[in-house]
Amino acid sequence: MKKPILIPDIIIIIFLEILLLPNEIHADPRSQTFNLTCGTQLIYNRTITLSNFVATMENISAQIRTSRFGIAATGSGHDANYGLAQCYGDLSLVDCVLCHAEARNILPLCYPFTGGRVYLDGCFMRAQNYSFFQEYTGPNDHAVCGNRTQQDPGFRNSARRGLLKAVADAPNNNGFAREQVGVSGSGNGSVYVLADCWKSVSASGCRACLENASASLLGCLPASGGRALNTGCFMRYSDANFLNPVPGNGSSRGRIVVTVIITVSAVAVLIIGTSIGYYMWKNRTIEKKRKGDAEKLAKILNDSSLNFKYSTLEKATSSFDKANKLGQGGFGIVYKGVLPDGREIAVKRLFFNNKHRAADFYNEVNIISSVEHKNLVKLLGCSCSGPESLLVYEFLPNKSLDHFIFDSSKAKTLNWEKRFKIIIGIVEGLVYLHENTKTRIIHRDIKASNILLDFRLRAKIADFGLARSFQEDKSHISTAIAGTLGYMAPEYLAHGRLTEKADVYSLGVLLLEIVTGSQNNRTKASNYTDSIVIFTWKKFQ
Ligand SMILES: *[C@@H]1O[C@H](CO)[C@@H](O)[C@H](O)[C@H]1NC(C)=O
Ligand SMILES: *[C@@H]1O[C@H](CO)[C@@H](O)[C@H](O)[C@H]1NC(C)=O
Ligand SMILES: *[C@@H]1O[C@H](CO)[C@@H](O)[C@H](O)[C@H]1NC(C)=O
Ligand SMILES: *[C@@H]1O[C@H](CO)[C@@H](O)[C@H](O)[C@H]1NC(C)=O
Ligand SMILES: *[C@@H]1O[C@H](CO)[C@@H](O)[C@H](O)[C@H]1NC(C)=O
Ligand SMILES: *[C@@H]1O[C@H](CO)[C@@H](O)[C@H](O)[C@H]1NC(C)=O
Ligand SMILES: *[C@@H]1O[C@H](CO)[C@@H](O)[C@H](O)[C@H]1NC(C)=O
Repeated sequence: MKKPILIPDIIIIIFLEILLLPNEIHADPRSQTFNLTCGTQLIYNRTITLSNFVATMENISAQIRTSRFGIAATGSGHDANYGLAQCYGDLSLVDCVLCHAEARNILPLCYPFTGGRVYLDGCFMRAQNYSFFQEYTGPNDHAVCGNRTQQDPGFRNSARRGLLKAVADAPNNNGFAREQVGVSGSGNGSVYVLADCWKSVSASGCRACLENASASLLGCLPASGGRALNTGCFMRYSDANFLNPVPGNGSSRGRIVVTVIITVSAVAVLIIGTSIGYYMWKNRTIEKKRKGDAEKLAKILNDSSLNFKYSTLEKATSSFDKANKLGQGGFGIVYKGVLPDGREIAVKRLFFNNKHRAADFYNEVNIISSVEHKNLVKLLGCSCSGPESLLVYEFLPNKSLDHFIFDSSKAKTLNWEKRFKIIIGIVEGLVYLHENTKTRIIHRDIKASNILLDFRLRAKIADFGLARSFQEDKSHISTAIAGTLGYMAPEYLAHGRLTEKADVYSLGVLLLEIVTGSQNNRTKASNYTDSIVIFTWKKFQ
């Protein structure tokens, strides 16, 4: 085992910046389409119009990613394309991008007619062959009322107050207003109002648009909600709170980072193995309990059929000859061995031999010997009493998944069908670990090198060295954070909050690797900013 290295906080922060970016203040993008209205005239020249449309959309998307609003124009004359997109003011940037991505898929449904508009519940998008940016009123403006009636007698009055307040507030607030008005005399009910003018519309246009919208919405009462779909603005009221938490305080991400800095500074010793990093936070009581258990276990194993003699394993691997080395995991080097009866085995020679680490060793033996599934590597036994701690597994000739998907020639042997089967196998194995009621297990270190393939290329999850059963810590809060950086769920990394979701996050990263064939954090630039999660996120945008 390599010497423990203390990793500077800054590295952790960089990792968090990367991992948390897609999760930053993510609430509800409200990306349901509410109304799509298309033009009625056919476009003039399809070829040119289409290419102009695509250019406009690309330009707008780039603006959306930074300012949640965008206008662009491409071409001239008949074939010109003007576009506008905006997210409503209560959406975070991330939610905005998600909503906009949906709008971008919907609007082209208007093809081959000139222009169209789409109102989603979180954003708006419009395209025409003329400049409409300052328009705030039009013949299609209308309100759509909810079909449920609000019985509360005070509701009508409160809704009116909320709508009028929004009309008054929005023009002086960049076109945006959100209101919550309590319904008097009825306990705890409220009316929620959202008003949003397109940023290209003038303040007076905004006011006129919202006045029309609010008047239309008042016509909806006593319906429990309604939406006004106007040329220059959108307005909505409801008795249910559809608004996102106020964004822009910007502190939620900051808080996570701060928490981690404190956590890291206070307790963490970061240990870097060859390819793995993990840090542990020792909890003495559990450690002690584990030691007691370990001694008991050692006795049981000594007497059980699980026990292999050290000398037998030494012989089987030709004294751990380098030529027999199969690979290296987080906890030890794995060698191929042949038993006297001809059976092939894999022997894991654990890095640690001191008593302290032995607890982990017994833990692993304990857990693995009790679970059996076609997609989990089978533990045959161990050598517990010899000079070294050894684990004996079934031998899998095809090594681990990373040898295939990251190798340009071997990758060709894995077509989509085979990859799909591998994915299904991994998922089935993981579901078994998570839902097997006897010993629910969170693997904690799902990654390509921990997925072995049998002779039929069937996936088998290996390396339970980091696993702990739920039983050990019923609070679901782990006492040790372990895993491989880049595969670890942000909430796990930040708070040590350990649930099955941590494995699901790692699985997600692994799936991206299986599909793309490129390794997380190992891109050409060998730059952390190129983590596969971020890469995919950028492509998604
Ligand atoms: C549309 O524009 C393309 C490119 O300028 C041109 O080749 C094509 O003839 C035009 N089609 C019509 C119907 O005008
Ligand atoms: C978008 O279009 C404007 C002109 O309409 C141009 O100045 C700007 O560079 C474009 N931005 C992008 C990202 O293409
Ligand atoms: C927009 O397209 C329609 C249909 O091709 C055409 O009749 C109209 O003149 C165009 N408008 C402008 C401003 O070019
Ligand atoms: C969308 O709004 C238009 C009016 O602008 C209306 O004619 C159409 O029926 C609406 N579509 C749906 C699906 O509600
Ligand atoms: C009311 O609207 C909801 C969705 O807006 C719809 O699912 C439901 O069928 C409607 N109910 C009636 C009675 O129209
Ligand atoms: C307050 O709201 C809760 C949950 O929405 C509801 O169960 C409760 O009945 C309400 N109280 C009154 C006095 O309306
Ligand atoms: C809002 O404007 C539209 C379009 O000009 C018009 O048809 C409608 O009657 C107006 N609504 C109200 C309540 O003034």
